Amino acid sequence: MQLWPTLLLSIPFLPAGLSNFISPRQVSVDAWVSAEEPIARSSIFRNIGNQGEFAKSAAPGVVIASPSTSSPDYYYQWTRDAALVYKTLLNTYINGNTSMETLLEQYIDHQAGLQRLETRSGGYTSGGLGEPKFYVDGSAFNENWGRPQPDGPALRTIVLAKYANILLDAGRADYVQSRLYDGKLPTESVIKADLEYVSHNWEITNGFDLWEEITGLHFFTMMVQHRALIEGAELADRLNDPGAAEYYRRQAAAIKARLPQFWDAQKGYLVGTLRSSQARSGEDCGTLLGSIHGNGKRGMGIYTPGSDEVLATLQALVDSMKDLYPLNQNPEAPGIAVGRYPSDVYDGVGTSIANPWFICTFTTSEILYSALVEFNDRGNLTVSSISERFFKQFSSSVSAGSTYGPGTSQWTDILGGMKTYADSFIAVAQRHAAVNGSMSEQFGRIDGFMKGARDLTWSYASFLSMRWARNGEVAF
Ligand SMILES: *[C@@H]1O[C@H](CO)[C@@H](O)[C@H](O)[C@H]1NC(C)=O
Ligand SMILES: *[C@@H]1O[C@H](CO)[C@@H](O)[C@H](O)[C@H]1NC(C)=O
Ligand SMILES: *[C@@H]1O[C@H](CO)[C@@H](O)[C@H](O)[C@H]1NC(C)=O
Repeated sequence: MQLWPTLLLSIPFLPAGLSNFISPRQVSVDAWVSAEEPIARSSIFRNIGNQGEFAKSAAPGVVIASPSTSSPDYYYQWTRDAALVYKTLLNTYINGNTSMETLLEQYIDHQAGLQRLETRSGGYTSGGLGEPKFYVDGSAFNENWGRPQPDGPALRTIVLAKYANILLDAGRADYVQSRLYDGKLPTESVIKADLEYVSHNWEITNGFDLWEEITGLHFFTMMVQHRALIEGAELADRLNDPGAAEYYRRQAAAIKARLPQFWDAQKGYLVGTLRSSQARSGEDCGTLLGSIHGNGKRGMGIYTPGSDEVLATLQALVDSMKDLYPLNQNPEAPGIAVGRYPSDVYDGVGTSIANPWFICTFTTSEILYSALVEFNDRGNLTVSSISERFFKQFSSSVSAGSTYGPGTSQWTDILGGMKTYADSFIAVAQRHAAVNGSMSEQFGRIDGFMKGARDLTWSYASFLSMRWARNGEVAF
């Protein structure tokens, strides 16, 4: 936190408006990441209902997507965004901030209320849990929207099942069994309700993707559904509900068997959506997010960040962005700015030309850091025909079929090269974030200035998630 005074001193000598281009160049990626961490934390708290200064009128425990109420209006709560934000808060709790307990209980109480609303997606046991977006007072949003979005209940399960296990370890079975997992049908508990929804609805093809634009079967959604069912089954076993555990595991196995269909051998990457309502080339930042949140620290053994397919997909996504954004052609650009998918037209307010996103730029680096953790844990890495191109950029002497470990020059070059590559994406975000550390949703593909909803809560959550992986402590 000694950084800002230096940065601020330099501003008066710069032409107005240039400060967010120039000042971040003066500090290293390490220094910027350290300075940004507390800012990202406090920026998340500012957007949490009731207590946060930007979310005073929202109910306790609610995560507003952004304080922006017009152009665009993001002053709502999305189930997905809220779960991903609470995932970072729970990680903070695991790392010692026990004062988070009140907030987690407010989240649980509020989500239980949302589950019971009659919405345009349905009711409590008739599909309503797939409703994606709510007013910040906890009432239903009944305008036209891309619904249902079946990733929300799966993400909420991943967060709350982790919390339930922590509470059980601490001897709080009463709370867990009354609020989170009662093992009854019909259920009156949040996790069980979500698991029933996920296990019975994962095959629907009218569900929208995480970007709320297309229907089909989505890699991101199926990866988090798979993980939610596995972790839900473990919780069901722990709470003596073996029939349900068996059923959830069977559905997880069926999803796992389906996931390889996303691999397009001709293209050489995992496509974002099958049976899509819109033709697309298929490179999608959502696929990288699916690998991260569908695996977590423990890993689910499928399409982990260090897998050949995910690394090849990362490279395909980055390549598709390289020529797309003029920003990336600037010889002084420290790296490649990454957006959601190449044919995107959402400019943050309406449709015209799309821009790079903070979430996607951080997520690209997070995959690389997480892969490094995987390689180090395993003590070696194997190059295949799928990943050969990816690894060759760091070590030209690698060949498909070979395994490299410590003591080989390939191992040293690859690990060092991947770290530098990962940092280059952060350097891009660093260059386009505000001097005070504030981050919106997007930054201009031409001028690099922040665009779209200001102080996007998910931008800060994606920074924190990346930051843990960069530290070698991948989030749960
Ligand atoms: C711990 O959590 C509380 C909210 O419960 C928050 O106000 C505080 O800033 C957090 N501390 C850190 C270091 O994140
Ligand atoms: C790579 O590491 C794994 C896990 O440590 C080990 O089982 C395997 O034998 C290693 N492979 C080679 C070729 O060294
Ligand atoms: C940070 O700076 C931006 C302008 O770049 C401004 O809109 C925002 O309000 C500032 N945030 C805080 C918390 O001061």
